[in-house]
Amino acid sequence: MKTTEPDQVISQKEVLVALDFPSYEKTKQFLKELGPYKPSVKVGMELFYQEGPRLIHDLKEAGYFVFLDLKLHDIPNTVKQAMKGLARLGVDMVNVHAAGGRPMMEAAREGLEAGAPAHTDKPLLIAVTQLTSTNQIILEKDLLIQEPLDKVIVTYARHAELSGLDGVVCSAWESKMIKTATRSDFLTVTPGIRLAGDDVQDQKRVATPSKARALESDYIVVGRSITKAANPAAAYETVCKEWSAEQ
Ligand code: C5P
Repeated sequence: MKTTEPDQVISQKEVLVALDFPSYEKTKQFLKELGPYKPSVKVGMELFYQEGPRLIHDLKEAGYFVFLDLKLHDIPNTVKQAMKGLARLGVDMVNVHAAGGRPMMEAAREGLEAGAPAHTDKPLLIAVTQLTSTNQIILEKDLLIQEPLDKVIVTYARHAELSGLDGVVCSAWESKMIKTATRSDFLTVTPGIRLAGDDVQDQKRVATPSKARALESDYIVVGRSITKAANPAAAYETVCKEWSAEQ
């Protein structure tokens, strides 16, 4: 087993660890288990709705890169005002559903620009194109969208780009297709990452960290492969090493 106190601590900004925990206490305990590592983190609805801005404030004060994954989707004015508040929290990345439409995405960007503290960059703004839990059947039968899923994903990514967003959340396997259709620095943030041999659980289109890198992901989101590992620090180190290895 690898040591949790390596000589050389490797942390990768682009490796976002999903803090899918029900409470602040459990989150603190997990971050402590990572020993010397200080990962970039993703805080989703589960944790934010319980612990809110206090947790974000503490993570930022401790120096963490924070992706606040709340997937906003509402009328443009409401999203704009909400984004002003999220920008004031000092987070580094936030997101919306592209299905909210271009006016809503533009309003989100304006809200972030207005709310970002003076002399700081606005947080990166990312769009969810289609949830990875959506398949062609759900698209057609529930959402009444008759186009192929890939076409919907690329079109929504283009709308996000035209609305001034920085990138999209997508599967690693969709990354190249999106990069081909958008500007070269348009970001792809990809969940569904598993180390070789790990249980895929409820994820469908998984990739290893090195495969995601080869498929041109800019950021990867890793949850259970690290949080449920017997040795989370060793798992985090393995993910970072795979991610940063020469392709
Ligand atoms: O544990 P696992 O690595 O599957 O966690 C993936 C994380 O990425 C979870 O927080 C999940 O909510 C999030 N996510 C996802 N698929 C998306 C968007 C977000 O798995 N399309």
